[in-house]
Amino acid sequence: MGHSAAQMSAIAAEQIARVERALASHGTREYPVAVLDLDFFDANAADLARRAGGTPIRVASKSLRVRALLERALEHTGFRGILAYTLPEALWLASAGYHDIVVAYPTVDRSALRRLAEDPAARRAITVMVDETAHLDLIADATTGVHLGGTPIRVALELDASFAPVPSVRFGAHRSPMHAPEQVSRLAREASARRGLRVVGLMAYEGQIAGVTDSARTPYGAAVRAMKSLSSREIATRRGETVRAVQEVAELEFVNAGGTGSIESSVAEDVVTEVAAGSGLIGPGLFDNYVGFAPLPALLLGFTVVRRPAPRVATLLGGGWIASGVPAADRLPTLWYPRGLTYAPQEGAGEVQTPVIGDAAEGLRIGDMVWLRHAKSGEPAEHATVYHLLQGEHITDVTPTYRGEGRMFL
Ligand SMILES: Cc1ncc(COP(=O)(O)O)c(C=O)c1O
Repeated sequence: MGHSAAQMSAIAAEQIARVERALASHGTREYPVAVLDLDFFDANAADLARRAGGTPIRVASKSLRVRALLERALEHTGFRGILAYTLPEALWLASAGYHDIVVAYPTVDRSALRRLAEDPAARRAITVMVDETAHLDLIADATTGVHLGGTPIRVALELDASFAPVPSVRFGAHRSPMHAPEQVSRLAREASARRGLRVVGLMAYEGQIAGVTDSARTPYGAAVRAMKSLSSREIATRRGETVRAVQEVAELEFVNAGGTGSIESSVAEDVVTEVAAGSGLIGPGLFDNYVGFAPLPALLLGFTVVRRPAPRVATLLGGGWIASGVPAADRLPTLWYPRGLTYAPQEGAGEVQTPVIGDAAEGLRIGDMVWLRHAKSGEPAEHATVYHLLQGEHITDVTPTYRGEGRMFL
């Protein structure tokens, strides 16, 4: 169960006391500042591993976008391999020595496919995702004239894991067009017949279970929980049938399933060999409201008060780090500390300034910090060039994000 409001307040007060002491003794002067609480990150990693119950967790890199954090996650027992989000990212990681990288989304980047084709070490390290013939054609184009020797391009097939209980109702992301097991086994057959390709894996991401909050004590919350329970039964049957059908065509090294929010139901399926997770390491705002687990908030964003336009209003410089997805209030950062602040209804979180309102604003002075949490895990790394790593009461390192390393993949 998610943390109660009182628990959240206690967590925030203890954490911010540590953060502010650490930044003061570190001499941090550059704001906004992103602080990654390693104690909470490690506790979250241990909790994910506990929930996975021995099924390996593949780290979803899009939810970190910081190499030092990918490495730290992979040092934890129970974690193995990377679920990358673009082929250029995977090639970059492979060139830095990472291996066992599955790219979770199809690529149409011909130059990246060509680089993959021409690099045997990358071909060994990386698996690309396909869900239709056009993807196979693009790979074939990119490999034309390249001698692949005994190191084929590794491909995985994505099964659509969405749930459509009746014809006009559908839950889940619009991802793969392959919903039926036969569609997947047909593409497996086609891929296996192509020169230089080897089908090695299957992936299906049940986003309607993994990525939808479910703890609301309302009719909506009850409906979400019912949908999840029906959907997990449906995908278990269909995923099992798909794996058996594909195994007649190809030898599968992995069957990847789920995300942070679906670990228990994903690992309960016999055919699933690994789960993917990333958000659960960070514990962003959107993961505060799940029934089955409660990650600790590991990533904090500190913005400074630069104006006091009225007694109960303090205005921050910046703050408008809005999350992707359907635009709504849940895409705003969570106002984490001081507790009890709200957004100004007509401004929200702004590009250059964010007024925060309430009794708690009364005590804020020019130069004070207000701490926010992003709604999503990986997107702050597109704003911040470095994360300050906090351990106990000390900043132990300042590490670059992908963006800080000059990399932008999406
Ligand atoms: C294929 C796939 N697996 C898993 C996840 C879940 O990642 P996380 O646990 O970071 O939310 C995602 C998120 O979008 C995904 O696209």
